[in-house]
Formats: sequence, C-alpha cells, structure tokens
Amino acid sequence: MSTPVRIGIIGGGLMGREVASALGRWFVLNDFPVKAELVAVCDLVEKQREWFRQIPTVKLLTADYHELLRSSEVDVVYVAVPHNLHEAIYLDVLKAGKDLLAEKPFGIDLKAARSIEKAAKESGRFVRCSSEFPFLPGAQRAFQKIKEGKLGKIIEIRSAFHHSSDLDPNKTVNWKRQVKTCGEIGVMGDLGMHAVHLPFRLGWNPTQVYAQLQKIYFERPDGKGGMAACDTWDNALLHSEIKIEGVDALIRFEMKRLAPGETNTWFIEVYGTEGGVKFSTKEPKTLWTFQRGKEQVWQKVDLGFHGPFATITGDIFEPGFPDCFMQMWAAYLAERAGKLEGRFGCVTPAEAVRSHELFEAALRSHQEKRAIDL
Ligand SMILES: NC(=O)c1ccc[n+]([C@@H]2O[C@H](COP(=O)([O-])OP(=O)(O)OC[C@H]3O[C@@H](n4cnc5c(N)ncnc54)[C@H](O)[C@@H]3O)[C@@H](O)[C@H]2O)c1
Repeated sequence: MSTPVRIGIIGGGLMGREVASALGRWFVLNDFPVKAELVAVCDLVEKQREWFRQIPTVKLLTADYHELLRSSEVDVVYVAVPHNLHEAIYLDVLKAGKDLLAEKPFGIDLKAARSIEKAAKESGRFVRCSSEFPFLPGAQRAFQKIKEGKLGKIIEIRSAFHHSSDLDPNKTVNWKRQVKTCGEIGVMGDLGMHAVHLPFRLGWNPTQVYAQLQKIYFERPDGKGGMAACDTWDNALLHSEIKIEGVDALIRFEMKRLAPGETNTWFIEVYGTEGGVKFSTKEPKTLWTFQRGKEQVWQKVDLGFHGPFATITGDIFEPGFPDCFMQMWAAYLAERAGKLEGRFGCVTPAEAVRSHELFEAALRSHQEKRAIDL
C-alpha cells in the first residue's frame, strides 16, 4: 500500500504549475510506494493562485506562505520563486518542520547556499534541489554507460544547457534578467544546476575553472513604455579540469540563454579513448555510442520510455519534459521514504553548494582573466 504525502507549493508560476501537472497524473507511476497529493498553493498574485482552483485536492490557496507553512495538512513543500527569495523562504520551510524540494540555484549566491545547507543539516529535514533532465532515459543510459567504466581514459566532456528564449531583444525584462533578483551569477544560476548534476554525481568535481561570460543585451523593454537594465550574464562557458583515474580530463560546462536554434536543449557528450556516449534532448529517443575499432563509427540507439521509475506508458513511446520532471519528483519522494533502491537521486544540498563554489570561482576567473583553483 502506498503512503500518502501531502504537498504544498510556494510560487505558482511556470514551475509551480509543472509540479501540479506531475502530481495530477501520479497514477501513471506503477507500484510506486508513495501517493503524492497537491493540497496547498501560495502565490502573491491572485490570477496565479486561481489557476490551481481547478485541482480538486487543493484545499488551501493563500497569498501568505506562512499560512501554508502553519498548515498541519502539508508534509513537503516545493518552492519556486525568484532567487533573491530562496534563502529566507527555504529557511522558513525548515523552521516550520517541513521537508523541502528546493528550486535551483538553491540560493542567490554561495553564502545563501551555505546557509541553506547548514539549516537543512541542523533541522534534520529531507532536502533536495530540482534538476530533472538526468532522469530522461537517454541521460540515464549515458550515466550507466559511463559508470560501466568501458570508455577507457576519459579525454573530454561537454555538459550543457542551451536555449534561445532571450534572443528576441523586444522581450520584456523579468526577474531572471536582473542581478538583484536572479543573482550575480546570472545564467549560471538559471541553467547551471542542469549542467553539473550528472557530472557531480559521477564524482567529476572540477579542480580548476577558466570562465568566459557574455552579456549580449544590456537593456530590454520594461513593459511600461521605457527600457530597463538587463545586467545578468547571458551566456557562460566554464572550461574546467577534473582528475579521472589519474588523468586530467577536460570538462566544459555550457550555459546559454542566447543559443540560436535551441529551444531548451540539455546535452551531455563524453569522449574516452575506448568509447564515447552522447545524448541530447534535441533527439529525445536517441543515444549515440562509440566503441574504438578499426573504423571511427558512432552508433545510434533508438530508445524507449524507460525512466528510473516504472510507468504505465508503453515501452516504445517517446519521453519529454513533463516525464522527466515527474521522474524527478518520484526520485525525491522515493528517497525521502528510503525507497530509492540504488536509483538516480535529486541534487543534494552539498552538490548545490559545490555548484555555487564553481560559479563563484567562474565570476572571479572572468574578472581576473585567469584560471581559478577549486
Ligand atoms: N527546474 C527547472 O527546469 C526550472 C525551470 C524554470 C525555472 N526554475 C526555477 O524555479 C524558480 C521559479 O521560476 P519560475 O520560472 O517558475 O518563475 P515564475 O516567475 O514563473 O514564477 C514565480 C512565482 O513566484 C511567485 N512569488 C514571488 N514571490 C512570492 C512570495 N513571496 N510568495 C509566494 N509567491 C511568490 C510569483 O508571483 C510567481 O507566480 C526559480 O528558482 C527558477 O530558477 C526551474
């Protein structure tokens, strides 16, 4: 029998609704040990809150997140708000005795991330951070392939997230484009957790970073007839080194808000002396593998639907964003219940802090035009 877990959302915007979608079709998971139910939502904006009224299990809609935290009907809280609010709200969630699935980047900067990690440890609550793409079947197969250790000496890795949502200069500015709400790390805070999750989980921790950061648009329409400063980094290339079995392998983390031709492309490429593996959400059912032989051949594998958690969906169907987001939630709730059973888990607070250490070093590297040791 599955254990019920009652979930509250703080921040009912883009991601808050995505969570409602995942929880609303929870029955898709086969024999899952936890029954998740969305029961409460908080957003400052009435229109955002009202959207959740169509979900029959939602009993509490409020503009005051403290009211949601006081509710004894809520076990786990998911928070998806602008980055400048992460630290205060995450700490309040923990103080209220609730478990937390935090959104990335887990605080606006390194100091905030460390304070959240400390509070998580002291509270004893179950805390993880969001990053869903590694739960796609192609990403999981790439992860397994690397773990099998048959790629020989790892030469080079590219771990990336590209999109183009900022290419249009007439797009109105929003909180993600301004340092005071998104953070000095800009695009690294926005997209970086997606790029580091899988490498960090493989134990690939950069020892050095050289960063190239770009600001391409300096202002945008403010939506009121004027222009507003757009002062966050748009694109970031982090050239790093990692030690893998005595070899200095090169890893490039790529985060781009201005990548022509890309809507939302997460990809990983790993090149070794004996083999290689590549997966991109651009081809969601395709895994590319390489095995050293007489000729240079990349093989294309047509994948099915298998995520880490079994579902009712046919094995031959294609997966997408809502599917990996749901698998990530399944991983969070399974791990919370002690039932992860060796499967891939969500980003830990320690990994989130490590990502901030990398991004802070990247800021210094760019400023001082030199590589920074980590
Ligand atoms: N995992 C992913 O793929 C992914 C994708 C996009 C964004 N995110 C992350 O999710 C978080 C939110 O991003 P988003 O795109 O959903 O933003 P959004 O702007 O669409 O939504 C944020 C919501 O928070 C509400 N809000 C602001 N202050 C609040 C407060 N004090 N109390 C209650 N509600 C408040 C706003 O009214 C808004 O509806 C960020 O941390 C972002 O980095 C993650």
